[in-house]
Amino acid sequence: QAELRARLLEVNRLAANYFYYQLKQPQGKQGYDYFREKRQLSDETIIRFGLGYANKTSDDLYRYLREKGYEDSFLKETGLVTVEERGGRDKFWNRVMFPIMDVNNRVIGFGGRVMGDGEPKYLNSPETRLFDKSRNLYGLNYARTSREKCMLICEGYLDVISLHQAGFSNAVASLGTAFTSQHAGILKRYTDQVILTYDSDGAGVKAALRAIPILRDAGISAKVLNMKPHKDPDEFIRNMGAQAFRERMDQARNSFLFEIDVLKREYSMEDPEQKTKFYQETARKLLQFGEPLERENYLQAVAREHMIQENELRQLVNRMGMQF
Ligand code: UTP
Ligand code: MN
Ligand code: MN
Ligand code: MN
Ligand code: MN
Repeated sequence: QAELRARLLEVNRLAANYFYYQLKQPQGKQGYDYFREKRQLSDETIIRFGLGYANKTSDDLYRYLREKGYEDSFLKETGLVTVEERGGRDKFWNRVMFPIMDVNNRVIGFGGRVMGDGEPKYLNSPETRLFDKSRNLYGLNYARTSREKCMLICEGYLDVISLHQAGFSNAVASLGTAFTSQHAGILKRYTDQVILTYDSDGAGVKAALRAIPILRDAGISAKVLNMKPHKDPDEFIRNMGAQAFRERMDQARNSFLFEIDVLKREYSMEDPEQKTKFYQETARKLLQFGEPLERENYLQAVAREHMIQENELRQLVNRMGMQF
C-alpha cells in the first residue's frame, strides 16, 4: 500500500510537470494567455501554484507515462487516464490545469477548467488512494505558514489563487465539495478563527450556513464576509483591489448574527404570525449557547439589531429552555 501511494505521488508529480511544460509550449499559448490575460495571473503565481495546460491531443499524457514505464493496470488507478480496448485516453483535454497539493506540497490530484463556456466548467480527479476530498483543502500548503491570525475559506481554485496573489496567503478552498468536520479538524491545527468568503449567490449562502455549525462544533470561531455586489473573492479583488477586501475582512459579520439575518429573510415581518415565528426560531437558536453570559450577549445583540424588546426575548428564551 505504501508503495502504491509512493508511485501515485510520483506519477502525479510527472503529470503536473508535464502540464506546466505544455503551458510554456507554443501549443499551450491559449492556456497561458487565459491565465495571464483573462485571469490576470502573474508568472510568479503560475509557478507558485504549478498551473498548467492539457493540450488538444487526447492521448499524449498517456503515451508519455507509458514511455516512463508505467503499465495500464497502474495508470487506471491514477485517475489521469482511462484505458479501454482501443487504447489509453487522457482524462484532461484542452483545459487549463490546477494541481491539487496536500499540506506537504505533494500533488494528489488535479482540477481542469475549460477556457470558454463548455461543460463541465471544472473537471476534477476522482478520489484515489491519495486524494480524499473531504480531508484536503486547496491552498493549505501555503496558508498553514501564513502569519495572519485567521484563515479565509472560499469556494474555488481561482479564489484561492487570486487571494494569495493579492497578499492573502491565508486562503483555502474546499473545492466544490461541502466543508466537512474533517476539514474543520485539520484547520483547527493551525487556527481557531476563520472568515467565510463563499460566493455571494444562493449556493454560497447555503454553503456558509452548513459550514457554520461544523466550525462551531470544532471550536473554531467563524465570521462571514459580505462580498456584495461582487460574485466571489476572485472577482472582488479584480474589481476592487486588496485594500477594499481587507476592509471587508475587518467588517465580517459574526456567524450567529449572519444566521439570524438569513433566517429573518424567510419571514415577512408585517405579518404578526410570521413575526412571532421568527422570534420563536431566534429564541430557539439562542438556546444553543449553554454559557449564560454568552447567551445573554447574543440575546442583547439580536434584540438591539432586530428591534425586539430585550425582556420579551429573554422570557421567550427561558420559557423555551424549560421545555427541554
Ligand atoms: P464556481 O462555479 O463558483 O466557479 O465553483 P469559480 O471557482 O468561480 O470559477 P471561475 O471563476 O468561473 O473560473 C467553485 C468551485 O467549485 C468547483 C471548483 O472547485 C470551483 O473552483 N466546481 C465548480 C467543480 O468542481 N465543477 C464545476 O463544474 C464547477
Ligand atoms: Mn493531451
Ligand atoms: Mn459558486
Ligand atoms: Mn465562484
Ligand atoms: Mn470565480
